[in-house]
Amino acid sequence: MYRTHTCGNLRLSDKNNVVTLAGWVQTVRKFGAITFVDLRDRYGITQLLFGEELTKQLDENPLGREYVLQAIGIVNERSNKNLNIPTGEIEIAVSSFSILNKSAVPPFTIQDDTDGGDDLRMKYRYLDLRRNAVKKNIELRYAVNRAARNYLHSQGFMDIETPFLIKSTPEGARDFVVPSRMNQGEFYALPQSPQTFKQLLMVSGYDRYYQIVKCFRDEDLRADRQPEFTQIDCEMAFVEQEDILNMFEGLVKSVFKDVKNIDYTESVQRMTWEDAMWNYGNDKPDIRFDIKLLNLKKPVTVYTDKSDNAVLINNADFKVFDEAETVIAISVPGCSEYSRKQTDELTEWVKRPQIGMKGLVFIKVNADGTYKSSVDKFYSEEKLKAIADAAGAKPGDLILILAGAEERTRKAISELRLEMAERLNLRKKDEYKLLWVVDFPLFEYDEESSRWVARHHPFTSPKPTHIDIMINNSQVIENAAEYLKHPYANIKANAYDMVLNGNEIGGGSIRIFQRTLQEKMFAALGMSAEEARHKFGFLLGAFEYGAPPHGGIAFGFDRLCAILGGSESIRDFIAFPKNNSGRDVMLDAPSAIDEKQMKELGIKIGS
Ligand code: AMO
Repeated sequence: MYRTHTCGNLRLSDKNNVVTLAGWVQTVRKFGAITFVDLRDRYGITQLLFGEELTKQLDENPLGREYVLQAIGIVNERSNKNLNIPTGEIEIAVSSFSILNKSAVPPFTIQDDTDGGDDLRMKYRYLDLRRNAVKKNIELRYAVNRAARNYLHSQGFMDIETPFLIKSTPEGARDFVVPSRMNQGEFYALPQSPQTFKQLLMVSGYDRYYQIVKCFRDEDLRADRQPEFTQIDCEMAFVEQEDILNMFEGLVKSVFKDVKNIDYTESVQRMTWEDAMWNYGNDKPDIRFDIKLLNLKKPVTVYTDKSDNAVLINNADFKVFDEAETVIAISVPGCSEYSRKQTDELTEWVKRPQIGMKGLVFIKVNADGTYKSSVDKFYSEEKLKAIADAAGAKPGDLILILAGAEERTRKAISELRLEMAERLNLRKKDEYKLLWVVDFPLFEYDEESSRWVARHHPFTSPKPTHIDIMINNSQVIENAAEYLKHPYANIKANAYDMVLNGNEIGGGSIRIFQRTLQEKMFAALGMSAEEARHKFGFLLGAFEYGAPPHGGIAFGFDRLCAILGGSESIRDFIAFPKNNSGRDVMLDAPSAIDEKQMKELGIKIGS
């Protein structure tokens, strides 16, 4: 037997027992004639005491860091207790030991504050995974996995696997493709999600499906995106949007309870896409803090019938505002005493290429009720007050205003909103605020290809009242610049996203389940009937055989774990992640394959 206990489970109550432990050598400390060794495994650290005799043996055969050691000994009470660790009251007085394996000197120290940089740790990820900080993340991932499975099982969902070698699924990214040896010149695509399969399972009658499943997308990577990532993918039949929102609100709340012991009892707030865009400038607002946008010039692409506040800034002869497509303000609590240096620094912040604004206008609402602004020349105190009032500013607040091209300005102000909240410590890591964003537009105009594309995916159903708009209008756009006037711009979808602390953690929709409507949808996306049949004949065919009404959602499992673990980066929660260029630096993949393999696959590179 290699061990009777782990390095994490011995306590004072085990005193005088003879035990065998096995693990990795964390540290070796020699004190005169005796030696202390900290032995580590997945469960903890236990101190071993080597007496004079054994220390002599160690002198001849020294232990190194990360050696794999087995030790037999008696559990003793420690004279010098370490109450910071659960095993800190005891130590093992070793009677015999054996080195099960040696270790080369590790390239970085295996401890919480390691000296290893990112690249080095990724190259030796198997060593990085020994570190407590990483291990905690992997444990949390498993806890989330278990909690999700328990909930879904309790609700009658069945885990059904779907294939990886498939035909392209349209989720908006590029496919990873796999050449076929047996069908030379032909390729499989790896699934961007199991979307079409889960819909087929509904047709087959498995009315509650789930899968914790790998998805593959060849897209630009960010902290919250990996080329292969995991979804908690779900689908239900005979449901309406309301059923789905309730069911999956339940899932996330259950995960919160099981993993973090958080009782999220309030029902999850819902917000339309238009309201999200109008009030926060993006479709995944962080609502942990109450700063909303004041639209001083209407951003048209939100297609809302809300009126803007242009009267507040008009007729002042201030060119920057007059000539801008969009002008948006936020009121930041308690910052009216910002110094010149601080407002200058904020101006530089919005001018950074990532934000891309030309400048920043501010109005200080002083505690004594007076106003001070960078545009005093153009706006009287009365006008400044009117803007401040509209922005909901109180004495002591600082109003920040950005003006410029619509899309950029809206993105910039929502970044600035987050940045100010960060600086004011309003984005607390241990506070969780869920939000459903609903009523997304069905289509999005793609300027590059001058056509409508599905905002979620082509299987998403329009709102029942908007189906006619889709059917009765051609998808052709005569004047690209005026696409917002096209009837398609107004069609809303039965689609929803779940947002957690400003991150999109899940998205789904009620699906189209009738062949004719699905064909209309493909046509609306500019697909010919032949192309639709070629790409999705299997689904259209299935819809002929009694497809039930259905809908579903997929959660970004890695993202959910990262947020619950208090991290920005999903990489920390994936055992073997890729770097930002999509490389596995440990395996050195992707890599070239040899001639023979290429030949078998019938592939030639270059001309
Ligand atoms: P969607 O494309 O919105 O929907 O994806 C669902 C969720 O998956 C996460 N996600 C990612 N996480 C890490 N890296 C990525 N590259 C990545 N891309 C997406 C996000 C997102 O909310 N089939 C539909 C779901 C449905 O309609 O049921 C789908 O895949 O958290």
